[in-house]
Amino acid sequence: MSKIKSSFFCQSCGHQSPKWLGKCPSCNEWNTYVEELIQKEEKQGHYVSSSLRIAAKPTPIHQIVYNETQRIDSKDTELNRVLGGGIVPGSIVLVGGEPGIGKSTLMLQIAISLGNYKVLYVSGEESEQQTKMRAERLGIESQNCYLLAETNTQNIFKQIEILQPSLVVIDSVQTLQSSFIESSAGSISQVRECTGEFLKYAKETGTPVFLIGHITKEGTLAGPKVLEHMVDTVLQFEGDRHLSYRILRTIKNRFGSTSELGIYEMTGKGLREVNNPSEILISQRDEALSGTTIGASIEGNRPLLVEIQSLVSPATYGTPQRSCTGFDAKRLNMLLAVLEKRGGFRLGVHDVFLNIAGGIKIEDPAIDLAVCASILSSYEDISISNHVCFAAEVGLGGEIRAVHKIENRISEAEKLGFKEIYISKYNKKGLDLSGFAIKINPVSKLTDVIEGLFG
Ligand code: TYD
Ligand code: MG
Repeated sequence: MSKIKSSFFCQSCGHQSPKWLGKCPSCNEWNTYVEELIQKEEKQGHYVSSSLRIAAKPTPIHQIVYNETQRIDSKDTELNRVLGGGIVPGSIVLVGGEPGIGKSTLMLQIAISLGNYKVLYVSGEESEQQTKMRAERLGIESQNCYLLAETNTQNIFKQIEILQPSLVVIDSVQTLQSSFIESSAGSISQVRECTGEFLKYAKETGTPVFLIGHITKEGTLAGPKVLEHMVDTVLQFEGDRHLSYRILRTIKNRFGSTSELGIYEMTGKGLREVNNPSEILISQRDEALSGTTIGASIEGNRPLLVEIQSLVSPATYGTPQRSCTGFDAKRLNMLLAVLEKRGGFRLGVHDVFLNIAGGIKIEDPAIDLAVCASILSSYEDISISNHVCFAAEVGLGGEIRAVHKIENRISEAEKLGFKEIYISKYNKKGLDLSGFAIKINPVSKLTDVIEGLFG
């Protein structure tokens, strides 16, 4: 006889407790405990049948041959890039994102375009007909993509055993239900159990698995946060739903860098890869506007020129407002303090609004100088020529600091037709500038930049 037991789980981090707690001792969140039924039962059999399993034995590390060609080319350069060069066999990838952002579209598109591999697309949210309708919209075809509308993991594994796919996509992990556990689909224990089963399957058979997971701010569905520890790679699909650009970001990657970024555009016929993002991030304008500057940042290995817009206006209320989109608010406050102290600008009595165009988030400190120039340009209401761009970090002393990969930034700026770039004087050392046609302005202090721009 199985013994049914209940336990309490924190919906935010997945911490388990035998009794209800007001505050989670693990993540310090309040009111997050929910009772879930769990079945304490000796699990009968295995999730994966023995015929699918490859017997493992220890191998000395020097004998293990590793070659890049083992990765599966997903036919999507943006996805290949964020995964670190293709899909790793036996890896388990979690694709998170808010509802409606395009996760199902992206994964279906990849499933269909992998024509040479047998792909199983399991949808627990949509019927086979609905998925087919979506596929028709995408306008691509494959003889090797199989759809399955199922939520029970045991049934899915039965079908997997018959079909023997080379890749499995689960849409979504929150709809899965394992018979080994009593609680309802989408609960922390259920999501964790189902992911565990697929993890085991992926590792034992070497089949890559993509799990789609929803993120909700309220945490009504078990957030994929709990799963981040379990999976190999976590990708986040983000973007403003009202804008057509979508960004695929790596949050965690056991097989590559976490700073990579993939950019897509949502069109009427699915997602289109954007291979030259700088062109879309910079608005095509003929005349220079005050408060608008271009910063040369690097995301992963890819240079990305971004447009920074700011608006500085006298504060009407007591406390001036500071608001920014796509840039760290604390860093903005720091830069404002530097401008006030080192440049003598009275920004403390002004509202400052900062926006990185295109709905993109930038963490690279190399856009500091562009941010400062943009704020000053709006403050003084003097526009900066749209042929000028910036690539340097600003320190607390108002000094202009060097940034990494400066050659890549300069050549990207040159490629996009910029005539002048401000960089740190310290970056110039050991740099061969003879190959560049663009004018390079090495500066060491914020005051030099102010003089250069505003005279
Ligand atoms: P979807 O992939 O269903 O989102 P998710 O799985 O993340 O919840 O994408 C839904 C949105 O994408 C929907 O608003 C319609 C839009 N869309 C397009 O604009 N073009 C298309 O070709 C497709 C298939 C969807
Ligand atoms: Mg979906």
